[in-house]
Amino acid sequence: MWQGRFSGKPDKLMQEFGQSVSFDQRLWKEDIQGSLAYAAELQRIGILTEKELADIQTGFVTITKEIESGKFQWKVELEDVHMNIESRLTELIGDAGKKLHTGRSRNDQVATDFKLWCIRVAKTELKAAAVALVRALVERASENVDVIIPAYTHLQRAMPTRLAHHLNAYVDMIFSDSRVFFRHGSADAQGRVPLGSGAATGNSFPVDMHVLAKSLGRSMPDHNSMAAVSDRDFALDLVFACAKCMTHLSRIAEDLILWSTAEFGFITLGDAVTTGSSIMPQKRNPDACELVRGKTGRVVGHLMSLFTLLKGLPMTYNRDLQEDKEAVFDATDQTLACLRVMALVFSKENFKVNRERIQQHLDSGAGYMEAMNVADWLVLQGVPFRDGHDITGRLVKYVEQKKMRFADLTAADLAAVDARLKPELLKELSLEALVERKQVYAGTAKARVLERLAELKSWLGNNEQGAMNHEQ
Ligand code: ARG
Repeated sequence: MWQGRFSGKPDKLMQEFGQSVSFDQRLWKEDIQGSLAYAAELQRIGILTEKELADIQTGFVTITKEIESGKFQWKVELEDVHMNIESRLTELIGDAGKKLHTGRSRNDQVATDFKLWCIRVAKTELKAAAVALVRALVERASENVDVIIPAYTHLQRAMPTRLAHHLNAYVDMIFSDSRVFFRHGSADAQGRVPLGSGAATGNSFPVDMHVLAKSLGRSMPDHNSMAAVSDRDFALDLVFACAKCMTHLSRIAEDLILWSTAEFGFITLGDAVTTGSSIMPQKRNPDACELVRGKTGRVVGHLMSLFTLLKGLPMTYNRDLQEDKEAVFDATDQTLACLRVMALVFSKENFKVNRERIQQHLDSGAGYMEAMNVADWLVLQGVPFRDGHDITGRLVKYVEQKKMRFADLTAADLAAVDARLKPELLKELSLEALVERKQVYAGTAKARVLERLAELKSWLGNNEQGAMNHEQ
């Protein structure tokens, strides 16, 4: 494609080293989409005849079929997806194929293709996988509204919560990521597109950049051709969203790993998402969750790779930028796989809640989660919170020294600690009572949790019909 100026061929090693077609062939759809838009514009300004445009369109129909059926011959000597597709077009339709690159450069071409690819994957696959995970979480939460578990801070029992409230927390974490996925798509609908910017300094032919942008479903062309061809912020944004999502998934995975230990035993994970041990027949290992946790490092690593790739890069396009793709592709692939696997983990078959075991934990009285109730009750009796805290602290010490549970306390015990601890307090000491005290918005009271679940279900319903509320 540039051979005119050269007398020698690239070294074989250099060919292998420089090729990107082995991975950037994933951009083929967007490459054809961009080329079709560009060809139409070349025809409008008189560079291509109507017949040539029609030939290009027919050529791309054939190429699409060849690629989809796996018959397309990708050639390493043609370096990348762009040159492979253009060369095949020329093979198929002759000179019209050679005219397609008029005024265009692979620099605006790759920036366009890659940006469109990132937007498509975020808006379609990542969004769908995130929604499916939310759906599984909402289903499990709905089934477990009455299950009370300890909530932890510092990994110490803090206060009781509803399992449903805990699972709804995961939903909020996923929303925080998927909001980026969704917004990546929607904000970019007003977003700009580099096509037509040429190698770096704009197009010598009078293409209408606004028409080009519109025909690719974007509202505007980039303001500046130099910024346009060197910009990879869209890739950073997508990989950031993936890294954030993976960070959240790793925290969720870690909870499940802990919960499925013999020590916790809150849940049993199904056969489909666990493995046995080749040496210890009794084992059920939470591999799906561990792999999700492990892959997080890899995806966060891709974000660092991209930042490092872009740091200090001189204007404008530099071949270094070819290194952006594998980071983005792998970050996307891994995130997608992890979202899907976590939805499987949270399916009815695989996420089994061990209610009796949880109840045993609660009945043990360990962690004295009832204590907070005592302090709150004292406040309602007019005792200043700091004094209430102190009295409650002494009560915990008493219970601890006597090796008893809060549930075993009698009126005499209370009086022995402090006169302000009246017998009426005893009936306030259940964990249900404590969970129900949190009646405020975002709290653990059953009514609040059910409200949130209703909101989420309606969101999921709307989402099924395609009406997405991004600000959920
Ligand atoms: N394969 C290249 C990339 O991904 C395409 C752009 C090459 N441009 C160039 N002037 N060599 O970045």
